[in-house]
Amino acid sequence: MIIVTGASGQLGHAVVLELLKLVPASEIGVSVRDPGKASDLAGKGVRVRQGDFADPASLQRAFEGADQVLVVSSNARAYGGDPLAQHTSAIEATRTVGATRIVYTSQIAASPTSAFAPAVDHAATEELLRQSGLAWTSLRNGFYASSGLMAMGNSLETGLLEAPADGKVAWAAHADLAEAAAILLADPGRYEGPTPPLTGSQALDLADLAAIATELGRPVRRSVFPDEELGARLEARGMPASAARFMLGNSIASRGGEFGPVDPTLEQLIGHPPTTMRDLIAARLGR
Ligand SMILES: NC(=O)c1ccc[n+]([C@@H]2O[C@H](COP(=O)([O-])OP(=O)(O)OC[C@H]3O[C@@H](n4cnc5c(N)ncnc54)[C@H](OP(=O)(O)O)[C@@H]3O)[C@@H](O)[C@H]2O)c1
Repeated sequence: MIIVTGASGQLGHAVVLELLKLVPASEIGVSVRDPGKASDLAGKGVRVRQGDFADPASLQRAFEGADQVLVVSSNARAYGGDPLAQHTSAIEATRTVGATRIVYTSQIAASPTSAFAPAVDHAATEELLRQSGLAWTSLRNGFYASSGLMAMGNSLETGLLEAPADGKVAWAAHADLAEAAAILLADPGRYEGPTPPLTGSQALDLADLAAIATELGRPVRRSVFPDEELGARLEARGMPASAARFMLGNSIASRGGEFGPVDPTLEQLIGHPPTTMRDLIAARLGR
């Protein structure tokens, strides 16, 4: 059985829908904090069990019978939690139920020296996987294209995209990453350890995204403000100082090229061109 965590979230849910095209529903289970959020999957014949990364006993129940577990990385850091403790519990539960492989959603910039805090956590989790004794695959997912749209803020309405200096990012869409994850779960062992970067086919910075919107008929001007202004600007929008540190880490990593490498592996795996930022911006504009 293949168990997918985070199946109430965007990526995990999309992975399960893709898996359903590849393996019988009776071979798929999900581990979710709130089973009510996965009732649509239960309706398709997927086994739904309650599992919380913060409650190791619940994970063992939810992972029972697993041959493989897809651990969708925790977003606990954003809420002051400890993603490494949570990932440790998930790895431990995978071992306890006797699964043979763990697949983990890492990120393109995973490195102990990244300027982007989640990328440091991903590298530390990969180290935990290395030491786990389990067979493991780490999906080095490109930066979410949805984050690129979020980084554009309300510029599609205002015509002004203001942010600290950034760099090129090889944006990758949830749909394509989910398809690739499902393919690798249905045909395990194609990658031992980290995959190559799973990215879209173009690396684009915010100026490029503004230019695409402009070409699509919604003029957007990119304007850079100094890093030092970010805290005050976010505070004015009611956001805490920790959000500024997080976002600045993102900008520094991006201009250091950490999210930039374009790699053909995602396209080769899914067998079609990855979704482009132009597609997504056009959809946002209703074009
Ligand atoms: N590659 C990238 O650029 C990028 C960007 C942003 C984030 N990420 C990472 O990718 C992950 C998945 O992305 P996404 O878009 O699917 O995020 P999402 O829609 O926010 O989904 C997060 C999932 O994690 C679950 N979760 C949270 N805390 C949990 C806990 N204590 N125990 C068990 N499950 C828990 C959530 O469950 P509930 O429904 O119960 O909340 C939800 O199912 C994120 O969590 C983050 O680590 C990657």
